[in-house]
Amino acid sequence: MEHQAATKKKRFKGWIHRKRHSGGVMFLVLRKNEGITQVVIKKNAVDEESWKAAVDSTVESSVEVEGYEKSDARSPSGMDIIASRLRLVQRSEPFPISEYQSTELLLDKRHLWLRSQRMIQIMKARSAILRYSRSFLDRKGFYEISPPLITEAGGETGADLFEIEYFGKKAYMTESSQLYAEAMVFSLGKVYSLAPSYRAEKSRTTKHLAEYWHLEPEMAHYDNAKSMRLQEELVSSIAQMLVKHNGEILESLGVDRKWLVGIRPPFRRISYTEAIETLNEKGIRKEWGDDLGSDDEKALTAEEEKPIFVYNWPKGIKPFYMPVDKKDTRTVVCSDMQAPRGHGEIIGGSERIWRLDELIERMADIERAKGMKFDIEKYGWWIDLRRYGSVPHAGFGLGMERLIKWLLDLEHIRDAIPFPRMINRLRP
Ligand code: 4AD
Ligand code: MG
Repeated sequence: MEHQAATKKKRFKGWIHRKRHSGGVMFLVLRKNEGITQVVIKKNAVDEESWKAAVDSTVESSVEVEGYEKSDARSPSGMDIIASRLRLVQRSEPFPISEYQSTELLLDKRHLWLRSQRMIQIMKARSAILRYSRSFLDRKGFYEISPPLITEAGGETGADLFEIEYFGKKAYMTESSQLYAEAMVFSLGKVYSLAPSYRAEKSRTTKHLAEYWHLEPEMAHYDNAKSMRLQEELVSSIAQMLVKHNGEILESLGVDRKWLVGIRPPFRRISYTEAIETLNEKGIRKEWGDDLGSDDEKALTAEEEKPIFVYNWPKGIKPFYMPVDKKDTRTVVCSDMQAPRGHGEIIGGSERIWRLDELIERMADIERAKGMKFDIEKYGWWIDLRRYGSVPHAGFGLGMERLIKWLLDLEHIRDAIPFPRMINRLRP
């Protein structure tokens, strides 16, 4: 085996992760796309130019190595590259990140910090999670749609919109693609978008971004109960695929894989009213009608091992498109999925009001209760959908970075995305 491998020369391209010198032998730890491998360069086994390149090389220099692979139990990857030639593509300037750095510096140098082993593993897991999300919905017969990101009006509460100037008119970065996805269920049946949403969130929490990737499925002929079943299947499928195919990544990030293996349907369902009771029992004072904040969600889910659904929220704290529940008219037909061990909300979903008269009434109700006016001209096209062969439909929005934060058990959502956008961060 070893002899066979030794005869086959290959070329490797990568970056120097670490460097060590011992007499006439140089050990370069090479970072390739696939992972890390040690390159052994012996002075008397390479040409003069290669040896000089090895001596001159610095951490993060880009290099090309010619050599053969040799298995070595002492090597971290189980394999060394015995170099016969080395070329410096570019000698790196002194790398500005060393071992112990402040969080702020690592965020300032994010474009370089993305090369750290931790960020590499997270970004690989992120890529896999995006892929599993799409492939699950693909298997279920969904079409991926591409919604506009510049909009004329809000699609949620409208409280946290980023305003932009659009050829002399006011416009907004989208806060949800739902209204557009709704339009497309009438032609495609089951659709989803995976696109950024924007929230001008002033809150500095470990789970709020100003720009996040939002997976928004929308389904014709679904009620919220059916939508919840789809949600638990989707989330479980992603968790199972992640564990099955990314063992090494999860191990290097210290993720409890047994925990993820246990993420299977069904997830527990509790009403909003029960959630409020539970919080009060835990000593967190909450009135019926209050919204839940990050700390409340943390307390609610701290002892859970699987996600839970919290359904039927008070109509006063939920948006205009959610139908009032006829069995309990204080609430709307909706649910949030809350991730376990304190991670909290990762999905918001609901049925949509699909009858014209009911929608007009609900919007008028909200106007009265909140002392505001919907700009009906701007919502006209969306209201129109309730005039031409409308059908019951439902959907939900899953925050991808919230999902990644939970699945990889990250402390802060900013590490779930390469270039986080937060209240105090726009660079890089
Ligand atoms: O609960 P939200 O606001 O619901 C909607 O936008 C619906 N229109 C979705 C739909 O039914 N199509 O947001 C949905 C999810 C949240 O559960 C959360 O995971 C994520 O989006 N999210 C955020 N993620 C990161 N940073 C923020 N500031 C977020 N705000 C919401
Ligand atoms: Mg929500």
